[in-house]
Amino acid sequence: MTADGAPLEGRVAFVTGAARGQGRAHAVRLAAEGADIIASDICGPVSETVPYAAATPEDLEETARAVEAHGRKVLARKVDVRDDAALRALVADGVEQFGRLDILVANAGVLSWGRLWELTDDQWNTVIDVNLTGTWRTVRAVVPAMIEAGNGGSVVIVSSSAGVKATPGNGHYSASKHGLTALTNSLALEAGEYGIRVNSIHPYSVATPMIENDSMMEILGKHPSFLHSFAPMPYRRVGSDGDKGRAEFMSAEEVADVVAWLAGDASSTISGSQIAVDRGVMKY
Ligand SMILES: NC(=O)c1ccc[n+]([C@@H]2O[C@H](COP(=O)([O-])OP(=O)(O)OC[C@H]3O[C@@H](n4cnc5c(N)ncnc54)[C@H](O)[C@@H]3O)[C@@H](O)[C@H]2O)c1
Repeated sequence: MTADGAPLEGRVAFVTGAARGQGRAHAVRLAAEGADIIASDICGPVSETVPYAAATPEDLEETARAVEAHGRKVLARKVDVRDDAALRALVADGVEQFGRLDILVANAGVLSWGRLWELTDDQWNTVIDVNLTGTWRTVRAVVPAMIEAGNGGSVVIVSSSAGVKATPGNGHYSASKHGLTALTNSLALEAGEYGIRVNSIHPYSVATPMIENDSMMEILGKHPSFLHSFAPMPYRRVGSDGDKGRAEFMSAEEVADVVAWLAGDASSTISGSQIAVDRGVMKY
């Protein structure tokens, strides 16, 4: 931590899926903590099988403005995590511009709905290609630059509660997020000798466009027995709106609190861990 109290001062963070939702919250929070930011997003439709509105170039511009409002530098670019060449080019340009790379938040992801035997090839392939293979491609593009910079670092893989438990109605998503749990733990062992820590976070019900749409309610309406797997969280943050009742959703900023902790030195003993960000709902 520097004299002015910014714990990530002088460090550089790469965030995928940064145009909106949790990715934007992570980019802005890491900037508030002192980091310069490389922000990427597809900024457009991923596939016709994704049943909610896509992020836009304007969304990513808004993230960049919010980072700059904290006095930090930002390199923001439209990049699909399925595009290896574009990912590598962005990493190279970011390192050239900022001189180092310390933090990766592999956050880009998509969700669609359907029972496993009813999914189309496009539904399956899109979710696996983006969530699992896209995260691996991101890791492959970023980790060598972190090793080369020689400063150690922290990799945060954004999995989901669906990466540690079964979720009916999105088995392909759950398979991709379970895959990320395995990827996290293998990478933690491989990157440890370079002082790079690797952890996964497992959020549940975060208020973003991914789940704030009708498609989840449609499948739960058709299959009420699935409701049991999507229980309401046991509490709200004290002082938040309506803190007497159960929480429906968490905010992206609350998840960013955890990402900032994992990115910084306060979590220096934590690697190869699965961090539940779910207000305890998984303990039901
Ligand atoms: N919202 C939740 O309840 C929840 C819970 C657990 C985990 N997650 C995970 O959190 C992450 C962030 O999701 P969110 O809730 O902010 O949803 P979101 O849809 O608001 O944000 C996801 C972002 O990723 C981007 N993206 C999607 N595919 C991409 C690709 N191929 N290349 C580059 N960018 C791409 C989107 O454009 C979007 O900006 C995802 O990995 C998601 O699976 C979400």
